[in-house]
Amino acid sequence: MHHFHYIDNELYCEEVPVPEIIRKMGTPCYIYSHATLRQHFRTFDDAFNGIRHLTCFSMKSNSNLAILRLFALEGGGVDIVSGGELYRALKAEVEPGKIVYSGVGKQVEDLEYALKSDILMFNVESTQEIVKLNDVAARLNKKARIAIRINPDVDPETHPYVSTGLKENKFGIDISIAPEQYTTAAGMKNLEVSGVSCHIGSQLTQVSPFVDALRKLKQMIKDVERTGIKIDYLDLGGGLGITYNREEPPHPEEYAGAIKKELGTTDLTLILEPGRVIMGNAGILVTKVLYTKSTIEKTFIIVDAAMNDLLRPSLYDSYHGIQPVKKSGRGTVTADIVGPICESGDFFARGREVESLKPGELMAVMSAGAYGFSMSSNYNSRPRVCEVMVKGDRFYTIRTRETFEDLVRGEKIPDFLA
Ligand code: LLP
Repeated sequence: MHHFHYIDNELYCEEVPVPEIIRKMGTPCYIYSHATLRQHFRTFDDAFNGIRHLTCFSMKSNSNLAILRLFALEGGGVDIVSGGELYRALKAEVEPGKIVYSGVGKQVEDLEYALKSDILMFNVESTQEIVKLNDVAARLNKKARIAIRINPDVDPETHPYVSTGLKENKFGIDISIAPEQYTTAAGMKNLEVSGVSCHIGSQLTQVSPFVDALRKLKQMIKDVERTGIKIDYLDLGGGLGITYNREEPPHPEEYAGAIKKELGTTDLTLILEPGRVIMGNAGILVTKVLYTKSTIEKTFIIVDAAMNDLLRPSLYDSYHGIQPVKKSGRGTVTADIVGPICESGDFFARGREVESLKPGELMAVMSAGAYGFSMSSNYNSRPRVCEVMVKGDRFYTIRTRETFEDLVRGEKIPDFLA
């Protein structure tokens, strides 16, 4: 369910016509629906009712302060992967006791920052990190609460770039050697071992890999607890997929139901790290047609957004719906929708049947709320675009468009070149 819909052939976000937003904000522009975000968060979080749990929004999918604040107000925590994400989360007043920190390459400064901030848990991913975290915590006279991130060797059957729980992936600690790592960590003075974590991949469209991973973790927890170590938290990561095109992913209710069933009665507190399922269909990227051209081979629709604004089609060949902001009634055309960047990989869709649009008309790239803005860059010296949140009949700028001055901020010409 989302709140992007047509009234009289014009695309609306909630009660606001998209062209009205664009008249003020220009293009390209990301637009998010507050009602959709809130509803997605609640649906997901409520699906786990009946079991102690904490929903930690995976902020790598969208780290805008306004978005983080919205979920914080809903009682959510966040899953972070860097000091920068921690900084944003704290700025949005996410409670430190609801922050979990994953990532294979946490830096000393970031570990210090997170320890000083008293976050809930570090999901550690290697033996060296366990040692390093203990050292840093000792230096700060702190105790770091940890979960060991397990690589359960489960195939999530998703795009290889976003599958993370297979033996060959860089993530986590192999489940077969994890119990020894628990023993080692439990013997360290400045660590408090209290959790197990795992994240097997993203955009999963079936529940079975989640259940398989959970089954393996349950067994491992039993083995570990037999050695006298008490596990309080079970972090199952994120990964639930959404419909971009024709996928039929399980509803959060079904996902939660399967997890609850496999888990049975338990004292564990469950931690979930959803990103895409909450953000993905709550945002669109609006772009303007600049030119159209036809070669003998193809028709191209050249728009003002590009791969630096939304990298997913270029990087993963991902499908995003393309919709006219105003239906023209002119019929359709099969075209490549491309951006202005000097790379052939700069496209949003190829060979796609879309409504025939003319220069100056607007197009919406759908399902762009997750891993859209957060993966954007300044490639080709393109200022990063603005972001807007719609609530009811009003809209709010939640990020202004970058300027040319922003592009060169921090750059210096050394004296010898003056
Ligand atoms: N937890 C951890 C430890 C993760 O690494 C991720 C995503 C999540 C949670 C959230 O997963 P989600 O619920 O969003 O599937 N850029 C790619 C997706 C990369 C996902 C990375 N990790 C894309 O655009 O498809």
